[in-house]
Amino acid sequence: MLERIQELRREAEEALASVADASALESFRITYLARKGSVASLFDALRSAPPEERPALGKALNELRSHIQSLFDNKTASLAKGPARQESADLSLPGRHVYRGTRHPVTQVLDEIKGIFVSMGFGIADGPEIEDDEHNFGALNFPPDHPARDMQDTFFISPTTLLRTHTSPVQIRVMRENPPPVRVIMPGKVYRNEAISARSYCLFHQVEGLCVDRGVTFAELKGTLIAFVKRFYGSGTKYRFRPTFFPFTEPSADIYIGCFLCGGKGCRLCKNAGWLEILGCGMVHPNVFRNVGYDPEKYTGYAFGMGIDRIALLRYGIEDIRLFFENDVRFLNQF
Ligand code: PHE
Repeated sequence: MLERIQELRREAEEALASVADASALESFRITYLARKGSVASLFDALRSAPPEERPALGKALNELRSHIQSLFDNKTASLAKGPARQESADLSLPGRHVYRGTRHPVTQVLDEIKGIFVSMGFGIADGPEIEDDEHNFGALNFPPDHPARDMQDTFFISPTTLLRTHTSPVQIRVMRENPPPVRVIMPGKVYRNEAISARSYCLFHQVEGLCVDRGVTFAELKGTLIAFVKRFYGSGTKYRFRPTFFPFTEPSADIYIGCFLCGGKGCRLCKNAGWLEILGCGMVHPNVFRNVGYDPEKYTGYAFGMGIDRIALLRYGIEDIRLFFENDVRFLNQF
């Protein structure tokens, strides 16, 4: 009988080695450990063994049972952990390529612009892309019949709701929520109903700026924006201010820089002018202050706004603005 015990031990060990799933494990348990299994039947046989052998046989049988039980327990635990590591890995298989993301060129330009203004003490604010007429136009001193409200430029969602056409409505939100002084830039997406081409898209990005306090002057506007131009475009960059009109600033100006493609001689990019318009700016109109509850007798301020996408096009030598919005990885991977 001692031999039968040894045999059963080996048999059980072998059987367990080939158990690979829960159902094979269960039939192993039924064969060896269940009440009618092989181990139990040896215990039955013990009763008919000669009395003097029983103590030794009983001890061996107990050991066998706990041995098989612990093998069974270990296997249960290892099956629960999931499939064993595949032994037959094909070491000649090529590795899986890991694709690293890149920052969108518009984001890179935007981050650089933010960094410059933040270093000058500006905070960052944002506002909704779906706006109402009052924030996008009315509070910014656009007369009710201003052509910019026309369906040709603005995507209206309802007669009073629209996709913002510029980031200037965020100025209104910031001033209504914060008493002066304020000094923030407001980056974001804007929408215009324009014919889509390589040069213009129905969606683009702007960075708005606003600085309001007692005694803010046009000289401060110039100093801040010239510092920005020199840091962003290079210290030798030529620039000029030209008067222009915005309903929400007075006086207003556009900033131009010397065309960096032709060096000012005139080319396709600058339409032979030698200058590129990069930014609109001006002193906040007193009516705008009244519309947000600021006292125009006490406070003055300047505002500016610039498009980002064209800067990114020029910086990276990209010829079609639509590439920015198509999310083609073959394009995006290059940055
Ligand atoms: N909102 C103007 C535009 O979209 C830019 C601007 C902003 C001009 C702030 C002056 C002051 O063209």
